[in-house]
This record gives sequence, structure tokens and C-alpha cells, in this order.
Amino acid sequence: MTEKPNVVGVNIVKQNGVNVDELIKQLVYNASVEFTAYYYFTNLRAHCTGEQGESIKGVIEDARLEDLSHFESCLSRIYELGGSLPNDAQQFIKMSGCEFLQLPKKKTDVKEIMKKCLLAEQGAIVNWNKVCKMTYGKDPATYDVAKDVLREEIEHEAWFLELLYGRPSGHMRRKYSGERPHTHKHSRSLG
Ligand SMILES: [Fe+2]
Ligand SMILES: [Fe+2]
Repeated sequence: MTEKPNVVGVNIVKQNGVNVDELIKQLVYNASVEFTAYYYFTNLRAHCTGEQGESIKGVIEDARLEDLSHFESCLSRIYELGGSLPNDAQQFIKMSGCEFLQLPKKKTDVKEIMKKCLLAEQGAIVNWNKVCKMTYGKDPATYDVAKDVLREEIEHEAWFLELLYGRPSGHMRRKYSGERPHTHKHSRSLG
């Protein structure tokens, strides 16, 4: 089949005023950040040692598993809009710009680890706010994903602010790691 299909799901979004190419680009970039952050959080969590480390391990684990959920949550809209992920996985990791999430000089410095986590969450908030602004009132399907991811990122930021500065988050702990209360429906492949 060489005939180009008519994709109404993309046409309407264009008619509503979305620059679909720009939106795909932003979604692929956000997917790369979530995927790479998931990797780096794995290593950071592993270096939370001792009594102090033990107290934050669970929080990093909750944030880590929700980043995997955020990566999964990007996928359907990328492909539905006509985009795809880069063929080269190294290119995908590189575009995230997440090198700052490598271990601190003293690898088990819990405070430095938390500072890195906080920066990652704040970057994610900016990334998802961009998608919200690009899609609000124009692409309800993508907006639904973006606002749910943003909600979790704001919660993650509040956790690390609470740990670092004693600024109350107003949250209870997740019921279990991987609960992902807002993005669960966008990442059903994770169970
Ligand atoms: Fe995330
Ligand atoms: Fe996060």
C-alpha cells in the first residue's frame, strides 16, 4: 500500500491550531527525559546507603517508577500523531541532556542525591507544562496525558522540597511503589 491514509485524529488537531511536528518533537524529547531519568534514578537509589539513605530510598523508588510510567504514557500519542522514537537508542538517551543525574562526587552523599532528584523533577515540570500549553483546548487526548504527568511531577517536586527544606508537601506516602495515581490509565502495559 503506497496510498497515504487520511488520519482524522491528526487532521482535527491541526485544524484546532496545533503544530503537530513541534508537538511530536516535544513528546519525543519528554519521553527521552523520562526514560533516562528512570535509569539514573535507579543508580541514585542504589547509592542511598546507611541510616540516612534508608529514609529516602522509598521516595526515590516511588519517583523512579512513576518516571517509567511517564515514558510509557508518551508512547501512544507519539505514534497516533504520526511520530516515532529514534532508531538509535544512544541518540535517544543523548537528547535528554540528563547527564547531571550521574552520581555525585561522593557517591553516597544523600543530600547531593536529593538535590539532583529535585532538579530532575523541576525540569520535568517545565517539560510537561510546555505540552499542556501546546495542547490546551486544541488536542484533548494529548492534554489529558500531559496534565496527569504534570500532576505527578509537581508531587515529586514537593516530596524533595519537603526532604531538603522541611517545606510541607501535604502528602501521604504512595500506597505502594508504582501506584502512579494520575498516570496509571496512560501506562496500563505496566500492570
Ligand atoms: Fe517523570
Ligand atoms: Fe518525576
